Amino acid sequence: MRLDLSVSWLGLTMTNPLYNASGVMCRSVEELEQVRHSAAGAVISKSCTLQPREGNPEPRYCATLLGSINSMGLPNAGFDYYLDYARGYPYEAGKPLFLSLSGMSLQDNLQMLASLAEQYLPCIPEVNLSCPNLPGKPQLGYDPAACLASLQAMSDVYPGVFGVKLPPYFDPVHFDQMAGVLNAFPRLRFVTCINSIGNGLVIDPERECVVIKPKDGLGGLGGAYVLPTALANVREFVRRLPDKHVVGCGGISSGREAFMHILAGATAVQIGTCLYEEGEGAFARILQELAMLMEAKGYQCLADFRGKLKTL
Ligand code: DHB
Repeated sequence: MRLDLSVSWLGLTMTNPLYNASGVMCRSVEELEQVRHSAAGAVISKSCTLQPREGNPEPRYCATLLGSINSMGLPNAGFDYYLDYARGYPYEAGKPLFLSLSGMSLQDNLQMLASLAEQYLPCIPEVNLSCPNLPGKPQLGYDPAACLASLQAMSDVYPGVFGVKLPPYFDPVHFDQMAGVLNAFPRLRFVTCINSIGNGLVIDPERECVVIKPKDGLGGLGGAYVLPTALANVREFVRRLPDKHVVGCGGISSGREAFMHILAGATAVQIGTCLYEEGEGAFARILQELAMLMEAKGYQCLADFRGKLKTL
């Protein structure tokens, strides 16, 4: 039986649904090229700001048995660096490039989007509404009125298709509110669910100490800790955004979790903590596991089971 793992969306084709979560293996050209040369189906760059940033003091990432905690603080090489990468990107090769934008202000996001719009580059912006790690700055994604105003302004300066990265939500009323906002923007073609669960606290009982330095140890959680929250956000937004795609992100470390995200309705899926821990070989492994699972179940393509999660 021939398996087809490809994904066609946004007018693009990916040979398979896996790519990196923004933030992991995508800050430098060397890392971006590692993802591009791997088995991944697409590449996304580190969330960037107009100016380069060093980020928060180290240690700022720590892995545990169940996942990871990070408070990187947006270390990145600056918008122009990623723009240059996009300029030279060999788009024809069939591995789409996404640029993650996370300006320090709405003005900065507008400036980056206006610049992107001018240049007709072969990349699609994913605007990050959910960075939890800037001391003193709340996440835009938890303020629906501010999201509405920002998306209106961004949609006005950017004439192409784009997506947003959302924080996790935890209440059906909040899913409804955000879906109402997102559905007002037809060129907002995808939402990526979820960013890390913000401001968790991991404690080392031996040392009686926090494990990362910024924010007295508070940081965004990823990995197995967040899988059920990620799946809930994917399923709930798929239900509420019938004309958009949902990209699943959170807790994927094998073909089984990738399968779960797609069953919940994800069009494509991103790998964060697992990629950080395992390196780019994770893509080929997870892909192979997903293929074996599909084969065992008699599925020939992703559409055979995408969004077909049953309820009791
Ligand atoms: C960072 C973390 C995030 O979860 C995010 O969305 C953007 C940036 C960071 O700390 O660098």
